[in-house]
Amino acid sequence: MLVSSLAVFAHHRLGLFREFIYLAQMADIINLDIEKPAAVSTAKDFASANKEHFDKTASHHEDKRWLELARRAARAITERYKFDEDSTTVMDFACNTGLLARELAPHTKSIVGVDISQGAVDVFNERVLNQGIPPEEMRAVCIELKGVEGELDGQKFDVITCSVSYHHFEDINSITKMLSFFLKPGGTLFVVDISPSEKEGHNEDSHQHHHHHDHHHDGHSHGSSSDALFPEHVQHVVPHKHGLSREMIQAAFDGAALTSFTFEIISTVMLHGKEGQLFVATGTKSPA
Ligand SMILES: C[S@@+](CC[C@H](N)C(=O)[O-])C[C@H]1O[C@@H](n2cnc3c(N)ncnc32)[C@H](O)[C@@H]1O
Repeated sequence: MLVSSLAVFAHHRLGLFREFIYLAQMADIINLDIEKPAAVSTAKDFASANKEHFDKTASHHEDKRWLELARRAARAITERYKFDEDSTTVMDFACNTGLLARELAPHTKSIVGVDISQGAVDVFNERVLNQGIPPEEMRAVCIELKGVEGELDGQKFDVITCSVSYHHFEDINSITKMLSFFLKPGGTLFVVDISPSEKEGHNEDSHQHHHHHDHHHDGHSHGSSSDALFPEHVQHVVPHKHGLSREMIQAAFDGAALTSFTFEIISTVMLHGKEGQLFVATGTKSPA
């Protein structure tokens, strides 16, 4: 126990996977660089690796450049849905410390953040407490949702949001089905994430997700790591190292029986000199 605590402390001190996002001086491009880790733990499934990673980074996640990204995501979402602060209930999935949730909260009746990182959820709830917001209006829970009756006290939502997290999910098809389970009939799912830029030449690859590969789901598993959008040192927490194409997102939404699919580019991001496109995708659960 002591040994593992020391190991965690040492990793933290060495700045394991601190992520930096900064706004480019010019235009409205977001420049996102991710610091190289001191050590990489391998041999973990993506969910466990993410939990470990985000537990360690929670306390210093709230860089103002991440905040700018959350603001752009929030703007894209609020421009595309008629929120009613007296009635709209929201789940923010993979909420981390609540950057997006805090931007959306003023537009909602209530917002529940969900994340697998206890460290991130603790920071989320501490912020809510400090702002004097009652938990029935805003809170986060640490749970790996399955999409079965009884989870989240049976609550269903008008809107579910998930921002810059889909690239962390190994199986976006099952995550989307699971999220659809938590939508009310007629409810809307918003996914904001990063798509490969056409300039980076991955659009052709992105069609391969329909082919079955043994261990991966995005069709990029045989591609070179070095030409990926996400740098090699974070690829153990990023199964979709080339980002997510429109086709991949649409297939996931279709598979979850979400209709009225839309997909729009809202911003440009730079990751270690590679250009990506920030997109917002929406889909609606059929009315009962
Ligand atoms: C880049 S952060 C999300 C940022 C956040 N949406 C915001 O607005 O600031 C990615 C998050 O995904 C969470 N995550 C990764 N895999 C997950 C899973 N399978 N279920 C729930 N959360 C997950 C991580 O713990 C982390 O907090």
